[in-house]
This record gives sequence, C-alpha cells and structure tokens, in this order.
Amino acid sequence: MAMSDSNWDEQSRTAWERYGTEGYPVQFDEDTLSGKLQKKELLWILSQIPQKRFKILDAGCGPGRYSLELTKRKNEVVGLDFAQPMLKQIRNKTKECAVLQGDIQYLPFTDERFDIVIMVNVLQHLKTPQMRFLAVKEAFRVSKEYVFVDVKNKLNPILSRRYKNVKDEFIRTAYSHSEIKQAIKKCNGRIVGSKGIGFPIKGIAPFIVIKASKSPRGDS
Ligand SMILES: C[S@@+](CC[C@H](N)C(=O)[O-])C[C@H]1O[C@@H](n2cnc3c(N)ncnc32)[C@H](O)[C@@H]1O
Repeated sequence: MAMSDSNWDEQSRTAWERYGTEGYPVQFDEDTLSGKLQKKELLWILSQIPQKRFKILDAGCGPGRYSLELTKRKNEVVGLDFAQPMLKQIRNKTKECAVLQGDIQYLPFTDERFDIVIMVNVLQHLKTPQMRFLAVKEAFRVSKEYVFVDVKNKLNPILSRRYKNVKDEFIRTAYSHSEIKQAIKKCNGRIVGSKGIGFPIKGIAPFIVIKASKSPRGDS
C-alpha cells in the first residue's frame, strides 16, 4: 500500500484515525438531520451514475458508504483516505474494492486514470480555499469524464453557525457555492447537474451537490 505525497493536517488525520478505529458507521444515522442529508446526497449521486462498469475513485472514502454501494453495482472502485482504520473497514467488508492511503490534495494516480471521481463530505475538512482548490484540481486531473463534489454552504445560516462552533479536533469549514464553481471553471470543467440538499432554494441549501464534466458541453 503506497502512500502519496501529502500536505494533510496531522491533527485532523490523527482524529480521523481514532474515529475510524472506534468504528465510524457505514450506515447513515437517519435519526439526525445531517445523516438524513448525507443519505440524500448519496442517493442523488447514485441516480446520476448509469448502470455501467465505470472506474471510480472515492476520494476521502471514510468507511466506504459510496465505495461499497458502487462496488455492489459492479463498478471498479478505489477508495482513498488518509486514515488507515477507515480503509480497514472497507477491507473487512469486501475484497472487490481496492483501497489506498493518500491525501486528496496529492492523488497518487496518473492523469485520467478514472472515469469518475467522487469527492464528497470531505472538502469541509480542509482548512483553506487553496487546499480545497488543490483537491478539486486533483479530482479533475485523475478523472476522464465526471467529478462529483459537494458544498457545505456557508450561506446557510444554520450550517455556518454549526461549523463555527465546533470545538473538537476535526476541521470543519463551510465554504461557498461560488468558490467551488470557480475552482471547477479553472479546471476547465463544466457543471452538468447540481442539487440543493435540505432546502428548496439551492443558493441557501445546507448542502449542494455538483456533477461536473470534463467535456466541453455543459451548463457552466
Ligand atoms: C466525513 S468522512 C466522509 C466519508 C465519505 N466520503 C462519506 O461521505 O461517507 C471524511 C473522510 O475524509 C477523510 N479525510 C479528511 N481529510 C482528508 C485528506 N486530506 N485526504 C484524504 N482523506 C481525508 C477522513 O479520514 C474521513 O474518513
């Protein structure tokens, strides 16, 4: 198991390693609002991926909510995370999904190695816009067709207040839809679909999921 170059925050990685060891759940906790919203994000993304055998990178895969579901659907999936215990959870459940320790800002893959890259529920754990840009850029570099990313929307008052008041060692930063749209544009990507999750007006929904294409057609 090779490790990529990294620029990760060691305090954050240590916290995730501990959380992974304690058994970060694969199932969403649908008794909580964030669990319900995360499940909706997953369902929307799955609805955007046709039943075909794609090569998919799940970047910041955690215990494999996306990786396991996409593997079940016969895709060829690689789960990447900087916390080894997260990867172990996937390994304990299936041998069909490859896993690799690495940093989403320095993906250890050649250009266009995957058809699709999913980078969801992870950008909020990077501290700065530069780090988020680097991660988005890497997602586009290693993808041939589509990139899925999400926005933990700082224009949603409840989400931005919640993230500001977090006192634990996990980094959580709310950021804007326009920041991610600009990052996609700089990577020559085109937004071909997006959905606000948790509120009917997309601009102020707590989560926004984006499907972006590398092809020149689309509705940027
Ligand atoms: C909230 S979990 C989300 C997991 C998964 N994407 C999902 O939606 O269920 C965030 C994951 O990102 C990982 N992570 C955070 N920063 C990372 C980085 N710089 N590189 C790789 N993984 C990272 C953590 O270890 C954790 O497993």
